[in-house]
Amino acid sequence: MRTDEKIIDETVQGEVLMRPPKLANGKKLFLESYGCQMNFSDSEIVASILIDKGYSTTQNYKEADLILVNTCAIRDNAENRVRQRLQDYKKIKKSNPDALIGVLGCMAERLKSQFLEQEKLVDMVVGPDAYRDLPNLIEQAETGQKAINVILSKEETYADIAPVRLDKNGVSAFVSIMRGCDNMCSFCVVPFTRGRERSRDPQSIVKECKEAFDAGYREVTLLGQNVDSYLWSGGGLKKEILTEEQKAASTNFAQLMEMVALINPDLRVRFSTSHPKDMTDDVLQIMAKYENICNNIHLPVQSGSSRVLDMMNRGYSREWYLERIAAIKKILPDCGISTDIITGFCSETEDEHQETLSLMREVGYDYAYMFSYSERPKTLAERKYKDDVPENVKNRRLSEVVNLQRENSSIKTAQGVGKVHRVLIEGFSKKSEEMLMGRNSQNMVVVFPKDNHKKGDYVNVLAERCTTSTLIGNVVG
Ligand code: SAH
Ligand code: SF4
Ligand code: F3S
Repeated sequence: MRTDEKIIDETVQGEVLMRPPKLANGKKLFLESYGCQMNFSDSEIVASILIDKGYSTTQNYKEADLILVNTCAIRDNAENRVRQRLQDYKKIKKSNPDALIGVLGCMAERLKSQFLEQEKLVDMVVGPDAYRDLPNLIEQAETGQKAINVILSKEETYADIAPVRLDKNGVSAFVSIMRGCDNMCSFCVVPFTRGRERSRDPQSIVKECKEAFDAGYREVTLLGQNVDSYLWSGGGLKKEILTEEQKAASTNFAQLMEMVALINPDLRVRFSTSHPKDMTDDVLQIMAKYENICNNIHLPVQSGSSRVLDMMNRGYSREWYLERIAAIKKILPDCGISTDIITGFCSETEDEHQETLSLMREVGYDYAYMFSYSERPKTLAERKYKDDVPENVKNRRLSEVVNLQRENSSIKTAQGVGKVHRVLIEGFSKKSEEMLMGRNSQNMVVVFPKDNHKKGDYVNVLAERCTTSTLIGNVVG
């Protein structure tokens, strides 16, 4: 079960970098990330660029020469949290007037110079496609000028930059396969903050995954806002202008996943996010063909009502979505399925909310990220529709969705008891250093005694009991 709070909890503060600078410049960087996995993946690019310039890192912002906050603009509360943090950081200028503060990512892109002019919170504003320019912008800011680059690109994929891994476990790595989004869902700010969709050269993706495997990683998650729309046709040609022949010669998502799966059978492959309107049976067939592609699909539904989905501009109906779920269950009978849900979108009625609940019952999700609607400036919904569901109604609907998901999750977890699960070990369990934790293919957490096992190994665990979201058992075989 994941709610908004849970996502925020995953915020990494003052990340530790694995690679020290070759030529240190004596300066310390404090880097903090908010938002989705793609933002975390971008922070790994930022870290790489700055370490090459000689920065080392710190987890204590009070001793930093450079504070960078990689931000999210998806909902109002995400932005408010960042503003609060920036107020705190600004205070260190009293004791260290030379310290520089930069805001990166989606909020930087959305608010642009407003950060420098009205809010006067930071010295630098850098959008998601401008990270190569960071060293120049820092130089500008050091001479007292306000530095800003929020230009969005149609080509930038940072394909040639080897990220510095910022994850905590050294077992699972995130690899961006594309950037931007062309979908224009009416509630969503991402197309404005991340720009046009573009795919990354598959060879550079395979190389990055291989390097991760060689460095000890055993799982890669391929990231994009709509991975099913991945298409590389050489030279970054746009899909719309390709001839049928060129399309046939290009690499699609199913083919890319196969290339990554073939790197090594001990490298697990996951991906996020799939879009219901674009998810094809090809992808499901490739998942069925390779043991090391995990049986887990994140397929955000947003709403169970076709009228609401139409207003959201999602490009599918309730029936279409359920047909895609049926295809998953047919081709991959033990696939874990998760989703995203928004409650209280413009004009959503009580009956339409009930349709969301009935769809959740019908699908039986393993877990879900659930949100109440937050109107975002410039989006289609903000311009066309009234945000007319009262806050208390949005929240009541959200708690109904959360409660139902809690039931669904515990049913799903209980179904895993008595079965053997192949688990990739990620580290110690939260509660005890005598116990290890890992995940099964469906992404469910499994806990078992440590014995001689270690992080990065695969083990088969017979689940003997469970809590609402965790399986507990013993290694067998
Ligand atoms: N590309 C993904 C979603 C990325 S944003 C997809 O299309 O599924 C992650 C989730 O945040 C969305 O799925 C949606 O559930 C939620 N979200 C996005 N904009 C929102 C808004 N304005 N208010 C509330 N939730 C929102
Ligand atoms: Fe936003 Fe829709 Fe794109 Fe997802 S697919 S990032 S919800 S516009
Ligand atoms: Fe947030 Fe930007 Fe990701 S708005 S969810 S950080 S793409």
